[in-house]
Amino acid sequence: MSSGNVVTLVDACRHYQRGEEVVRALDGVSLEIAAGEAIALVGASGSGKSTLLNLVSAVDRPTSGRVEVCGVELATAPEDELLGLRRRCIGLVFQAFHLVPHLTAEENVALPLALDGRSDPDRVAELLRRVGLAHRRGHYPSELSGGEQQRTALARALVHRPRLLVADEPTGNLDSHTGSAVLELLAELQRSERAALLLATHDESVAAATDRIVHLHDGKLVR
Ligand SMILES: Nc1ncnc2c1ncn2[C@@H]1O[C@H](COP(=O)(O)OP(=O)(O)OP(=O)(O)O)[C@@H](O)[C@H]1O
Ligand SMILES: [Mg+2]
Repeated sequence: MSSGNVVTLVDACRHYQRGEEVVRALDGVSLEIAAGEAIALVGASGSGKSTLLNLVSAVDRPTSGRVEVCGVELATAPEDELLGLRRRCIGLVFQAFHLVPHLTAEENVALPLALDGRSDPDRVAELLRRVGLAHRRGHYPSELSGGEQQRTALARALVHRPRLLVADEPTGNLDSHTGSAVLELLAELQRSERAALLLATHDESVAAATDRIVHLHDGKLVR
């Protein structure tokens, strides 16, 4: 199924068996994300957004159907290949920032490189500058504002030049003014870094920062 797409889902399902009951968290989703394309995934709470993001981030595997990310077929790939995929191809941004508390902003940004046995101080410095935090590089997360923490997380998500940026409600923990600024920065960095973007949100105004909006309802895409 190799294609030029960064992400290809064909009839992808993620079902959970709970005793007699089957929860169809994701139920037959087909979707293609081209290189550099920005897609907003919009849906109500419980519609399956995070479930889909976990698949596309190679954190989870489909129970049926096909999910290919950066040329790797998730259903059959060995665990170490998925780890390599996560470390080299994917950048993640979360609602709750998820910075490492005992590392400085600079060390947090460098972390994806360090985990992959690499070091690139110039790249780390460049990203800190581009998110406007060069002067805060020695601060710990507890010494940063919410918006600054999310800007640090953005720099961390992009430091290793991922082909795919995955963001789950990245402005959900920020006030609307700070959220808009973070979103603008995210869109600008995504374009200049030529990464594809899959951004989950229940906020249609957030979705306007992307090329295309797809709607999810009860685990299915709504056309
Ligand atoms: N481990 C699990 N076992 C059973 N059901 C699950 C499991 N994880 C998620 N679900 C169910 O799958 C559905 C989709 O969950 P998901 O977290 O993807 O929703 P979401 O769209 O991200 O919602 P929110 O906007 O609230 O974050 C929900 O109904 C949830 O209860
Ligand atoms: Mg969610």
